[in-house]
Amino acid sequence: MRITGAVLETMGAPGPFVESHPVVVRDLELDEPGSNEILVRIEAAGVCHSDLSVVTGVRPRPVPMLLGHEAAGIIEKLGHDVNDLTVGQRVIMSFLPRCEQCDACASNGKTPCEPGSVANNEGRLFDGARRIHDGERTVNHHLGVSGFASYAVVDRRSVVPVASDVPAEVAALMGCAVLTGGGAVINAGRVQPGETLLVVGLGGVGMAALLVGLAHDDVRVIGVDANAEKLVLAKELGAHETYTPDEALALGVKADLVIEAVGRSVAFESAVSMTAPGGRTVVVGLPAPDDLARFSPLRLVAEGRSVIGSYLGNCVPARDIPLFVDMWRAGRLPIERLVSSQIRLSDINAAFDALERGDALRQVIVFDQAALPGTAGTP
Ligand code: APR
Ligand code: ZN
Repeated sequence: MRITGAVLETMGAPGPFVESHPVVVRDLELDEPGSNEILVRIEAAGVCHSDLSVVTGVRPRPVPMLLGHEAAGIIEKLGHDVNDLTVGQRVIMSFLPRCEQCDACASNGKTPCEPGSVANNEGRLFDGARRIHDGERTVNHHLGVSGFASYAVVDRRSVVPVASDVPAEVAALMGCAVLTGGGAVINAGRVQPGETLLVVGLGGVGMAALLVGLAHDDVRVIGVDANAEKLVLAKELGAHETYTPDEALALGVKADLVIEAVGRSVAFESAVSMTAPGGRTVVVGLPAPDDLARFSPLRLVAEGRSVIGSYLGNCVPARDIPLFVDMWRAGRLPIERLVSSQIRLSDINAAFDALERGDALRQVIVFDQAALPGTAGTP
């Protein structure tokens, strides 16, 4: 079938991306879903820093690649052997498929599924196929999702069904920002009653961590971001204190649990400095491999502190998404507030520019044009 999708053609193009156009929105051919695969009509997709990191080459992937890993949509068709899902059901894309057989899958979310990671690194679906074509060229899948498109074929293990009362935009953000940020607080950080939580970096991931912290009545929550506008929003959402990194370091602000959600070594260093002796620093940001931090091991010992790395917030999506959905339904997790703008697929390069500047929280691509503000349904 014909679809429209946003394809990254070259990594490392210079910004501004509205001028260099590293991502091209074009018509593509999508194969039918194979065995264990499904066809999903994408309703909403969030633009995450991990997409931008592929554009900039901080996280190199094979190109051409159809980007997007945080998305939700409606199942349109089931491939052979898919018996546990239904056409018409809303699903959340999960960018880390799980085989449930490897040692990593037995780690309860602590380490990423081994064959799932291999498939992701190679730009393939879980069983090896590539289903997207641009004429003679085959296009790589992004993390088994490729959600910046009108439709996607994904492995059955790359989705988690969600009830239809969860709006598509909220559902999309569950798949990355909420699992990564929220999981860092609950699973990796194991926040305790009476503790102080500090989040460094208030993008979609960090702000989700902040919201999950605020869902605990007995946890004091501090937001830190280099961009003062993020601090204003954090305060509106209920943060007890907010600081720029310079302010927090100058004042000696410290917390029991600190989440690093920037993805730069300088932010990691700040996060460690802002962790109280005896505390835990949880790192979820994904810096470039050659971006190295300076850190004294003596502080680990002398101050009895821990540094914890966490991929996807140590979440098992099928286990943890329902917990976050319950929190959202109870009114304790206002995920809608993370949506800073609704955009069209054709706005994608401008969206990456805004993310690079640190201006945007979650820009969400909506595929129902009628849902866009001020368009009156025109395409
Ligand atoms: N200290 C504090 N905040 C900073 C700093 C810094 N040194 N540098 C940048 N920031 C802030 C930005 O202003 C922005 O608000 O960090 C935030 C990062 O947000 P996004 O770019 O929206 O990133 P997000 O999508 O939330 O992802 C965060 O998690 O999954 C990983 O790859 C992802 O490394 C990235 C991280
Ligand atoms: Zn992401």
